[in-house]
Amino acid sequence: MNTKTAESDQHAEFEQAVMTGLSLPQKSIPCRFLYDERGSDLFEQITQLDEYYPTRTEVALLNAVRYDIAQAVGPGVALVELGSGSSTKTEILIESMSDLAAYVPIEISETALAGATAKLSKKFPDLRIFPVSADFSNTVTFPEEVRQFPKFGFFPGSTIGNFETDDAIGLLATLRRILGENGLLLIGVDLDKSTDILLPAYDDAKNVTAEFIMNILTRINRELDGNFDRSRFSYVVQYNEQFSRVEMYIQSDADQTVEVRGTEFFFKKSERIFVEFSHKYSVEGFKNLANNAGWRSRDYWIDGDNLFSIHLLENTLK
Ligand code: AVI
Repeated sequence: MNTKTAESDQHAEFEQAVMTGLSLPQKSIPCRFLYDERGSDLFEQITQLDEYYPTRTEVALLNAVRYDIAQAVGPGVALVELGSGSSTKTEILIESMSDLAAYVPIEISETALAGATAKLSKKFPDLRIFPVSADFSNTVTFPEEVRQFPKFGFFPGSTIGNFETDDAIGLLATLRRILGENGLLLIGVDLDKSTDILLPAYDDAKNVTAEFIMNILTRINRELDGNFDRSRFSYVVQYNEQFSRVEMYIQSDADQTVEVRGTEFFFKKSERIFVEFSHKYSVEGFKNLANNAGWRSRDYWIDGDNLFSIHLLENTLK
């Protein structure tokens, strides 16, 4: 797909999601639309915050167990990176796996893909790199040169937590089909824990997370002729015990009407737009989820403070 078509598809998808989402009894906007240019930059800032433990904990854990991972995976595999933006983490794996057959970054954005490829080919000149521009939640066609190698997928960041349970199982099953018969998957999963740690991680003192979530209103105003007055909305975060997830909302501070693409949407005072959730798992809870998608646990690692887990899964369905 060329970049122009991809962009207009994204635009149409955003419009459709917002118009539908704001018409629902529980207003909602899917969290994948948080990542416009400003949103991606804000997320990068979130990963550096003192309160946001997942990124630094996962990186430290990966560093601590990288040779155990290399041994558990074995030689001669093609490392398949699922989505970019994780190249620091991928470098840790590449450095510890001396006998990788190839490195295959998969990413929708061709710009991000080119960036990741350039960076890693400079750092690892002997590594055979085969970038693939694709949406890995669908299907992926591997280049001829890597087809014969067993695939070792890498999906860090606990992004799986941003999917509803059924969608998470669906995505894990898709990844299993993509990675194939002898496929392995290394996946980062945030652990369930006290709200004393969870809530500040999603409601930081500098309000970067609040800005990240509220930025969706700015995006609607810019891209969909919206007239949200951001000063009349607030960021609200809560932990939902029933679903073990942090939930992020935008709440209306008053009764008000907002126009988007010429359609009026009424907000009662205190009414919320559900923007993002971040599921937290126990080790057993995640293993069960993975089993439901046809994966079996080969090994897993957790940090000393029980904050974050990394699971190595193998395909049970040949
Ligand atoms: C990308 N994802 C794993 C983040 C998370 O922790 O759920 C997104 C995020 N939203 C607010 N802070 C971080």
